[in-house]
Amino acid sequence: MAHVPESILIDDIATLVTNDPSRGRGAVGEIQDAALVVEGGRVAWAGPRAQAPDADARIDAAGRCVLPGFVDSHSHIVFAGDRSREFAARMSGRPYTAGGIRTTVAATREASDADLLARARRLVGEARAQGTTTLEVKSGYGLTTHDEERSLAVAARVTDEVTFLGAHVVAPEYADDPSGYLDLVTGPMLDACAPHARWVDVFCERGAFDEDASRRVLTAGMERGLLPRVHGNQLGEGPGVRLGVELGAASVDHCTHLSAADVDALAEAAARPEPTVATLLPGVDFSTRQPYPDARALIDAGAIVALASDCNPGSCFTSSLAFCVAVAVRDMGMTPDEAVWAATAGGARALRRTDVGHLAPGARADLTLLDAPNHLYLAYRPGVPQVAAVWKDGELVA
Ligand code: NIG
Ligand code: FE
Repeated sequence: MAHVPESILIDDIATLVTNDPSRGRGAVGEIQDAALVVEGGRVAWAGPRAQAPDADARIDAAGRCVLPGFVDSHSHIVFAGDRSREFAARMSGRPYTAGGIRTTVAATREASDADLLARARRLVGEARAQGTTTLEVKSGYGLTTHDEERSLAVAARVTDEVTFLGAHVVAPEYADDPSGYLDLVTGPMLDACAPHARWVDVFCERGAFDEDASRRVLTAGMERGLLPRVHGNQLGEGPGVRLGVELGAASVDHCTHLSAADVDALAEAAARPEPTVATLLPGVDFSTRQPYPDARALIDAGAIVALASDCNPGSCFTSSLAFCVAVAVRDMGMTPDEAVWAATAGGARALRRTDVGHLAPGARADLTLLDAPNHLYLAYRPGVPQVAAVWKDGELVA
């Protein structure tokens, strides 16, 4: 049997991003000339190289950057089918609507469990190779009890962060009976799906579910022990943020179109012991030609901002958080430090996780080695693959 070293020293790190301000400079807790010790899948020590303790084995970071693995708190990777032509049509002027979701629903229902799992695994591998070590995955392309339940079973094979999104849009067979669909989603479908999920989500938007319907979906899920999160304010101003904050959702996602009252509500909710995070999805606004959300206004008001991919076949088919960081810096008023924090620690907040998104002792040893001297390079060199290695729970995974 191969010898498994008990402790591993990652040495000669030019820049270590800890996201622990007590350990280094700024909100990202940056340490220059650093080292990090991993033991038992956790961070055992992080600090200046000159003070590093001994370990059983040594990895040479060779003057490069180590940061926490990205925490991607929003994806829809259980699906089949292709919508590249819909994207192309948008780029020649057609607007994005939630209607395209039905194309993916039809293909997903046709696909076998094995096919859905193979596709999800491929996307998890793709994300991991780009530095994502935690990935939330939603259902929402089944929209029957059977297809939602099997979508969640597939999601649970690839992640612990599973979200029931039966309320993505009204299923096509209920087009003339949306309240019948609501009864299904909050009744038998929820009964079958709740045991597979940690979270309940709803697409609270014109063309999907209105405020009352969304409240019903979320409260029914909460009564079954699921924690709420919301898709809101994507295509226009609406009740999503207000409702998410009212119900204590972990996050309201998209936040592209916010009123001043929405920004205030998110700022107030940031100060709660269990805050509601504003999760911004720049890849969606890129791929749907929407304006970008005003991250600067949110941060200046005191809101907690996370960045996530929303990887899905319709509104945004990227799994790259590095891309999201670059767009957030270029077009959403975020500094590189804020964007890197939002894609790591911010994502962890949006998933109410304290074990990921930072590299203080005790955290999971989920880390990314960049082929770059510091984390600014993520936005400074957009589109360039810079991930040299990825560890999850202390194991080399990419
Ligand atoms: O988060 N907004 C709703 N759902 C997805 C898009 C789904 C699709 O177009 O297939 C989103 O953007
Ligand atoms: Fe989404």
